[in-house]
Amino acid sequence: MPQRNIRVAVAGLGVVGRETVRLLQERAPRLSRRLGAELTLDAVCDRQVAREARALKLPGCVFKTRDPQALLSRPGLDVIVEVLGGLEDARRLVVGALAGGRHVVTANKLLLSRRWPALQAARRHGARLRFEAAVGGAIPIVQSLGESLCADRVEAVYGILNGTTNYILTRVEEGLTPEAALSEAQALGFAEKDPRLDLSGQDTAQKVSVLAAVLTGAWLDPRRIPCRGIEGLGAEDVAFAREELGRAPRLLGALRLDWSGDPRVEAHVFPTLVPLSHPLAAVRRQRNAVLVRADPAGDLLFEGPGAGAGPTASAVVGDVFLLARELLGAASPESPAAAPAELAPAEDSVSPFYLRLRAMDRPGVLARVAQALGRRGISIASIHQPQSGGRALWAQVVLTTHPAAQGRFDDALADILRIPSISPRHAVLRMLDA
Ligand code: HSE
Repeated sequence: MPQRNIRVAVAGLGVVGRETVRLLQERAPRLSRRLGAELTLDAVCDRQVAREARALKLPGCVFKTRDPQALLSRPGLDVIVEVLGGLEDARRLVVGALAGGRHVVTANKLLLSRRWPALQAARRHGARLRFEAAVGGAIPIVQSLGESLCADRVEAVYGILNGTTNYILTRVEEGLTPEAALSEAQALGFAEKDPRLDLSGQDTAQKVSVLAAVLTGAWLDPRRIPCRGIEGLGAEDVAFAREELGRAPRLLGALRLDWSGDPRVEAHVFPTLVPLSHPLAAVRRQRNAVLVRADPAGDLLFEGPGAGAGPTASAVVGDVFLLARELLGAASPESPAAAPAELAPAEDSVSPFYLRLRAMDRPGVLARVAQALGRRGISIASIHQPQSGGRALWAQVVLTTHPAAQGRFDDALADILRIPSISPRHAVLRMLDA
């Protein structure tokens, strides 16, 4: 039986579109194996399609067009990825595709939040729409709220959903002016073309609207969501909150749901002081996080990169894969009785190490420890010898190393423990290398 082929088109070859094409092409063999069907890039569309296709080295068999509408009449196309951005061109493409029975993946929070009713109406013939990338970049929050938690009552969602404002708030804590921090965010490429959309909280409100639709199926116009941004905040507020209140400001998009009758939604976007010990205070720079309070699941925290080409393309291609799997229905994917994974040898595993030793407090002992590590090519990152007071015979010594292979470290440790002035009592920890 010939293998089924799932054909995908990518509309929009900006930063996200290009990364989506690159990822689709690079990972197609692995994704196809998992699907039990070919996953092929069939068409691309962009105003500068010839130039972009050349830069991406796309083969001649990929259909190239400058007109998004041309994708709608392309025979055999299964999934259209909309990463054009903006509102009206994107609406025409997505509504046309869904109404014509094509399945769509979009990263477009503006389109979803402003045209939700039109998109739902266009889906009446059963076409599917996935949009993980529209909220929180690579964080799988849409699927979690819409599918994984479907047996729960989600009572509240609190999200840091805008990387630009979180970047500004946390860089101001580090001593930058808000203006300099915004310039950095623009240079890094995740601020909106018009950064007022970020600063005013509107970008967050659009994402809150999308999450509300996922949770309730109903439309919450983002322009109705009470919204205040971070424009009024100064460095003095950030410093005072930290020093006097033990808190840090974060721009939170919040949803609270009352399930006692028809679901009622409370939604707002507001700069909010969170205790420094709260997990949301640890979310820094352009990272996003979503705290979900669900019954009976409890409190769940999702955290990760909320913007940028790689994280967004990751969510888009993930959606393409999930759609393809749904379309294939009963097709048999890669055999579940796969061969066991090849395990890499433990001695080759590289990590920085922490080593606590008890050593006789006499000249030359530390030099011998350092020699034992040096002989195995292991570099010391730091040495600490906490003072025990008085003239104790034994001293505690803590060493940390630069990344080293486990096997070499174990050999060096065996040498160290043979030094007569070193007690056999010791502790070894690996350190997270991040
Ligand atoms: N401007 C947005 C942000 C991009 O800063 O998070 C991702 O939606």
